[in-house]
Amino acid sequence: MGQVPVEGAPLYCLIGNGRLSRHLQHYFDQLQLAYRVWTRSGPPLSQALENCTHVLLLISDDALLDFLHTHPELQKYTVVHFSGSLATPLAWGAHPLMTFSHQLYTCEEYREIHFVIDHRAPAFETLLPGLPNPHHRLDSDLKARYHAECVLSGNFTAMLWSHFFQVMENQLGLPRQAALPYLKRVAANLQSEGNPLTGPLVRGDSATVQRNLQALEGDPYQNVYTSFVQAYQA
Ligand SMILES: NC(=O)c1ccc[n+]([C@@H]2O[C@H](COP(=O)([O-])OP(=O)(O)OC[C@H]3O[C@@H](n4cnc5c(N)ncnc54)[C@H](OP(=O)(O)O)[C@@H]3O)[C@@H](O)[C@H]2O)c1
Repeated sequence: MGQVPVEGAPLYCLIGNGRLSRHLQHYFDQLQLAYRVWTRSGPPLSQALENCTHVLLLISDDALLDFLHTHPELQKYTVVHFSGSLATPLAWGAHPLMTFSHQLYTCEEYREIHFVIDHRAPAFETLLPGLPNPHHRLDSDLKARYHAECVLSGNFTAMLWSHFFQVMENQLGLPRQAALPYLKRVAANLQSEGNPLTGPLVRGDSATVQRNLQALEGDPYQNVYTSFVQAYQA
């Protein structure tokens, strides 16, 4: 799988075939980097590891430490995991600051992804040779906070927007396309300098906030709205 290995060049073993693994496979194909993919339903791991230089752990965070302890033979290789919140002496962390769903991206889109690597990790060129990506180092003690912020900003806004689209289509009879220019503007305003926030909280329209909360009665997002009001006031 991947390119034919060239003597002296890195040969990656990708453990797992989930979302991030499939994105990396696509990116490695575009960069012409050699790799193999191992999954737990396939042939023995020793076969996939043959002649490899780097092992990339692309499995669920909850399975990572157990996997590393069960496979001490991995310590012969440069082992990298991609969890944003975990730190372990058994593998270097390299978290891509991006979201990877099922749709694959272009090479240009992959190239601009920043990797946040452990502060004591080897040089990026040694850790992930052949990847031209920008990177930054982060103290392991700060990883948990860093990842909590990634989840809040990326995953939770995705939940909010998915909820909005669903209500638009299923409860209000409005097409989701109607909300897309709004989504685009929110994203564009966030990217520019200055305070991007508008709406009743900023204006201090407390009666509007109360009407919004009443309208959300019975919806689990009513509590989310209340938490945002509290966070804004704090
Ligand atoms: N997706 C993202 O947006 C994203 C972003 C940044 C970092 N990451 C990191 O990337 C890593 C992978 O995440 P993902 O989103 O790609 O996960 P995913 O799509 O859920 O895929 C997880 C993979 O892990 C395998 N797996 C789970 N437990 C295993 C075990 N005990 N032994 C061997 N394989 C096991 C699964 O194999 P089976 O198919 O056999 O169940 C599956 O292929 C995580 O550390 C995550 O934090 C993900």
